[in-house]
Amino acid sequence: MKNVLVTGGLGYIGSHTTVELLNAGFEVIVIDDLSNTEKSVIQGIEQASGKTITFIEADVSNEIALNSIIQEYKKTLVGVIHFAAFKAVGESVQKPIKYYKNNILSLLTILDVLQQNTLDNLIFSSSCTVYGQAEKLPITESAPLKKAESPYGNTKKMGEDIIEDATKAYKLNAICLRYFNPIGAHPSTAIGENPKGTPQNLVPFITQTAAGIRQQLAVFGNDYPTVDGTCVRDYIYVVDLAKAHVIALQRLIDKKNTHAKEVYNIGTGKGSTVLEVINTFEAATAQKLNYEITDRREGDITAAYADTQKANTELGWKAEYDLAFALNSAWKWEKKCRGIK
Ligand code: WQD
Repeated sequence: MKNVLVTGGLGYIGSHTTVELLNAGFEVIVIDDLSNTEKSVIQGIEQASGKTITFIEADVSNEIALNSIIQEYKKTLVGVIHFAAFKAVGESVQKPIKYYKNNILSLLTILDVLQQNTLDNLIFSSSCTVYGQAEKLPITESAPLKKAESPYGNTKKMGEDIIEDATKAYKLNAICLRYFNPIGAHPSTAIGENPKGTPQNLVPFITQTAAGIRQQLAVFGNDYPTVDGTCVRDYIYVVDLAKAHVIALQRLIDKKNTHAKEVYNIGTGKGSTVLEVINTFEAATAQKLNYEITDRREGDITAAYADTQKANTELGWKAEYDLAFALNSAWKWEKKCRGIK
């Protein structure tokens, strides 16, 4: 029996990773406080994988609760994948204490409980935001980390620093995966991205506009120094991203890691502008998108896309799906959620 503890496992990336862990033969215990998701995602995970999970509703920063869970499963626990965190960049600027308290305290609690129980494999959900606007593109893992543009981004950077210190002091082995821009939904449409309220991210706003939930997509600026003036990002299909977590965990289980803390960029290695995303969406779905160019959004960087050499060679992982496939999967999910044929 190989149990994996997934914190925030009912969230967008957590649920897709849970499906891939189940597909790979692991048993999964999901801890989630349901602050940004619904319990119905459990059925979605079980439908997408054909397997069941153990779900425990708990706040990961509750040390007593987390410790009793770890005590119960420690004999068969092969690792922890930590997703549980608040992740709205804009909200983090308005409510920094909420973000530092939740995102840092939950990580500290996990590290403390792991150390108390001499458990040592951790996969940490990090983000390309730690690079800020990188000087050189594509971005490698050795690019200098910049002052985060938001408290959210800072919690990821601080999280990596805390993990670094923990791996030096304890027997901990950790892999930090720096996500670029996750998009799309599971091909079964059993799970997908479920933003609460008005979507902050581009792709859910696109699919909600195509579904008629939103009147019009605002393209935040077309006066950037890029091929068509709109920002460039590396949009990675969420199932490709999920598979990277399984491979990274297996690397730690097999003790193949060469450092106690390892870091990998998880992207496609290809940058796309906002207008290219719109055009690709329209071509892939035959849906015309109503959009207009508006002012820039505060805090946006011009361009970011990954150099994926390290993940390709050391993890043996590479993104398999392209932008059109990912956008199509997002559209299928949106149609399912809205009851559109
Ligand atoms: C992408 C591009 C916008 C919405 C954020 C977080 C990052 C990560 C991914 C967690 C930008 C433009 C967007 C819209 C638009 N999350 N856009 N109209 O900001 O690159 O990254 O999500 O780790 O940490 O920072 O993603 O999808 O918000 O924006 O024109 O309605 O789309 O300006 O150029 P972002 P995004």
